[in-house]
Amino acid sequence: MLVALESYAAYLAKGARVGDNLPGRGYLKLAKPPELDVARGEQVYAAKCAVCHGGGGEGQVTADGDVVFPPLWGSRSYNWGAGMSSVTNAAGFIKANMPLSQGGTLNDEDVWAVAAYIDSRERPQDPRFSGSVAETRKAHHDSDYDFYGKMVDGRLLGENSPPSGTVPR
Ligand code: HEC
Repeated sequence: MLVALESYAAYLAKGARVGDNLPGRGYLKLAKPPELDVARGEQVYAAKCAVCHGGGGEGQVTADGDVVFPPLWGSRSYNWGAGMSSVTNAAGFIKANMPLSQGGTLNDEDVWAVAAYIDSRERPQDPRFSGSVAETRKAHHDSDYDFYGKMVDGRLLGENSPPSGTVPR
């Protein structure tokens, strides 16, 4: 089953390599929605993204550590200092490029929702972390479209972030 799933994902991914500069890396700008629907994003993620990026956002990494599909949250993901951790940026990237080779197929509502879902999960600490989540939020994440330093599912994001820079990526 795992082999079948991986070859399906590899088939979908044909023609793109991790690290290639996909069109849209410069982050498309989408009109902002009145609110971010994380619950809806969870459903979009399960239906359209989990096949490659994993049910827990862990992606697919070979035994040698080569990234087949990048993790989207957790200890091996991009960190809280990355542009992608801003929901606005992630939405622009996803709209243009995801699901892989099917950019432009998701409507904006689903794009914002899935970007919010991904960017409201824990990930490695912001390299600019001052020692205080509140201060770091104020200095670098002061936006309604940024979940760092917000409470999600009873946890303060940023408080228990794994250290950044421990996984070469
Ligand atoms: C067929 C496999 C596949 C599917 C399905 C897919 N992705 Fe991706 N995704 C990739 C690959 C491969 C990359 C790496 C592309 C690159 O960096 O050049 C990627 C990169 C990303 C990145 C950037 C990660 C980083 O570290 O910069 C995000 C965010 C992302 N995908 C979100 C999504 C979302 C949201 C969905 C569902 C709507 C989705 N993907 C569906 C294969 C997939």
